[in-house]
Amino acid sequence: MRDYENDKGTMMIGGVSTVEIADRFGTPVYVTDEQILRQNYRAIHDAFAKHMDTEIHYACKANTNLAILSILNQEGSHIDAVSIGEVLTCLKAGFPAERIMYTGVNVSDAELKALVATGCRINVDSQSELERLAKIKTDMPISFRITPGVASGHSAKVMTGGKGAKFGIPYDKVIETYARAKELGFDVKGIHAHTGSGGLTTEPFSQVVDVLCGLVNRIKNETGIQLEFLDFGGGIGVPYKPQDPECDLDELAFEICDTIKDETEIRTVALEPGRYIVCDSTILLTRVNDVKDAGPKKYVGVDAGFNTLIRPAMYDSYHYVALANKFNKACTAKYEVVGPICESGDYIAHERVLPDPEEGDIVAVYCAGAYGFSMSSPYNSRPRCAEVLVNEGKAELIREPEEIEDLWRHQIIPERLTR
Ligand code: LLP
Repeated sequence: MRDYENDKGTMMIGGVSTVEIADRFGTPVYVTDEQILRQNYRAIHDAFAKHMDTEIHYACKANTNLAILSILNQEGSHIDAVSIGEVLTCLKAGFPAERIMYTGVNVSDAELKALVATGCRINVDSQSELERLAKIKTDMPISFRITPGVASGHSAKVMTGGKGAKFGIPYDKVIETYARAKELGFDVKGIHAHTGSGGLTTEPFSQVVDVLCGLVNRIKNETGIQLEFLDFGGGIGVPYKPQDPECDLDELAFEICDTIKDETEIRTVALEPGRYIVCDSTILLTRVNDVKDAGPKKYVGVDAGFNTLIRPAMYDSYHYVALANKFNKACTAKYEVVGPICESGDYIAHERVLPDPEEGDIVAVYCAGAYGFSMSSPYNSRPRCAEVLVNEGKAELIREPEEIEDLWRHQIIPERLTR
């Protein structure tokens, strides 16, 4: 977990005071440090690129802010996209179509047509999708997502690679699917699997790479297709708690590339980190509205709830919290940090020691860059919040906060109901 600079009791991010950011842009607000984003990208890219040709496909579902995408485009990243909306967003941020790979599930014909029109790469998830894509276009490069029979993740809700999963070509249908793609005239270039998201061990990556290498060789022997790239998915975990271990990227990259080079003729390794790249680049600042001593529990009521950050309510995820304007004060008691949503499941942090929280204080929620804003909603009719980018002492708005009018923007009251 990242440490932040303490300037006489005020938490700083990217050389800017968190209190000044909260005062200037309002709260809640997501704040991203550009330098950390760039460092994370370079760390993961360079660890693998030492060994093989490497494509980092940033899993943009974690965070699709256009400014953040533009930074990763400057870094040379590729993209893992899951919808036509994500593909078009990445094109808007300047990514060339050939650096975007789409991996969908239960994809409609209309979406396939729109994807083909953009020229992005398509990683096919099912035999049905293959046949339907063939009716639109076949003289194009494709790859397949397979179900590896290996599952990982921080919660059962994000494990995707186990046997019988809804994702990918089932293991025993892989060879016939590659053969069929060749017969249909596709240029089949690669193989992909994703085990799940945010587990803290690297064991599943070794397992999935073993499965994929075995298939690469069988595909060569049984269909004559020599694949060019192997994509072992995303899911690299990050430390959310102070005592959580960090992933040893050098060891992971060495082991994976060694296996691929030893066992196959694959030239390019691809991976799809989302969380690793954006998670600790961003904090969420939220202001204390209310402090309540409710007998056995003490509550700190802040202005961000599960409408703004859903991970605690949805997965029981842990996010470290600190009082940004009392950064060097000693902690006094345990508190529940809760939001303004009218459900008892609405919380940000459970049983945390904090230094005497008062109305107006600023709570910083750490590691909020992955699946933070991108999963936020206007539930309870609370408009979505702003996003700010900080870089070497300067702060810039990269998303305006939504307004009350935005809640009504696409709604229609039939005329007869207004009489
Ligand atoms: N590739 C594929 C095919 C994926 O489905 C995902 C995530 C990734 C890559 C990126 O995984 P990452 O490196 O970010 O762990 N909302 C959940 C996470 C859902 C992940 C879904 N797929 C959360 O807040 O933890």
